[in-house]
Amino acid sequence: MDDHPIIEFRQVSKRFGQQRVLEGIDLSVERGRTTVIIGRSGTGKSVTLKHIVGLLRPDEGEVYFEGQRVDTLSERELRPIRRQISFVFQLNALFDSMSVAENVAFPTVQHARGRLDRRKLDKLVQDCLELVGLSGFGEKRPADLSGGEKKRVALARAIAIDPPPKVILYDEPTAGLDPQRSDVINRLIRNLQNEFNVTGLVVTHDMKSAEAVGDRILMLWNGRFIADGTVAELRAARDDHVRRFVEGVAEPEDVRNLT
Ligand SMILES: Nc1ncnc2c1ncn2[C@@H]1O[C@H](COP(=O)(O)OP(=O)(O)OP(=O)(O)O)[C@@H](O)[C@H]1O
Ligand SMILES: [Mg+2]
Repeated sequence: MDDHPIIEFRQVSKRFGQQRVLEGIDLSVERGRTTVIIGRSGTGKSVTLKHIVGLLRPDEGEVYFEGQRVDTLSERELRPIRRQISFVFQLNALFDSMSVAENVAFPTVQHARGRLDRRKLDKLVQDCLELVGLSGFGEKRPADLSGGEKKRVALARAIAIDPPPKVILYDEPTAGLDPQRSDVINRLIRNLQNEFNVTGLVVTHDMKSAEAVGDRILMLWNGRFIADGTVAELRAARDDHVRRFVEGVAEPEDVRNLT
């Protein structure tokens, strides 16, 4: 199986009504590396991630996980795929009715179907909360946490799986975090890759984070990837959109009416 890219998109297109979001994208994610997708707000980065676990289906094209086509699978057939892929959602998707610790334990409890070693699970939950700097937060409710704390609970939940998942999809993992917390999360993403060979696919606007974690950066623009390379290669890109994004400079048409 190792000769396949772990995730592959072939000519994937997606529209919502009249809006064309993805226009025939090809994407090949290398196993054991961290790939980053950058791009301005509303370009389809989250939409791209959702296709990998069957939360969205393409209008045209195909999506593969380890060589197996996934976009045609039923919800039931998707279950074993979803068990191997953790998803840190942009808006965290925490359950407000559960404590922080119960949220973090949730994927393991789901997958175990009753056969659970509670002590082992509690230890795993505590360890993962500690990794994201939230020791002692287990009994709190997500609704009482700050934005950055919620994000870190979502990260803890994505990694609190033993053995670790094959793939982690991170949608804006450092959004709302201060620079020092972001640094911790970037290191965590790197460690998961180095120690457990986790394949990471990270969506971010944060160029510093992209640079810290990304072996390879792709930029999505108007439904297509217009750049693919290292941060240094993107900085040196000829394409104006790529350079402006990397440097954080507005597109001229977006500031025409401002003085
Ligand atoms: N389920 C949906 N129904 C209708 N439109 C959708 C749906 N999901 C996404 N869209 C639209 O598709 C476009 C791309 O959305 P997406 O969430 O992928 O953006 P993004 O690149 O992740 O942006 P951001 O950086 O702001 O998170 C947006 O214009 C959004 O409104
Ligand atoms: Mg998004």
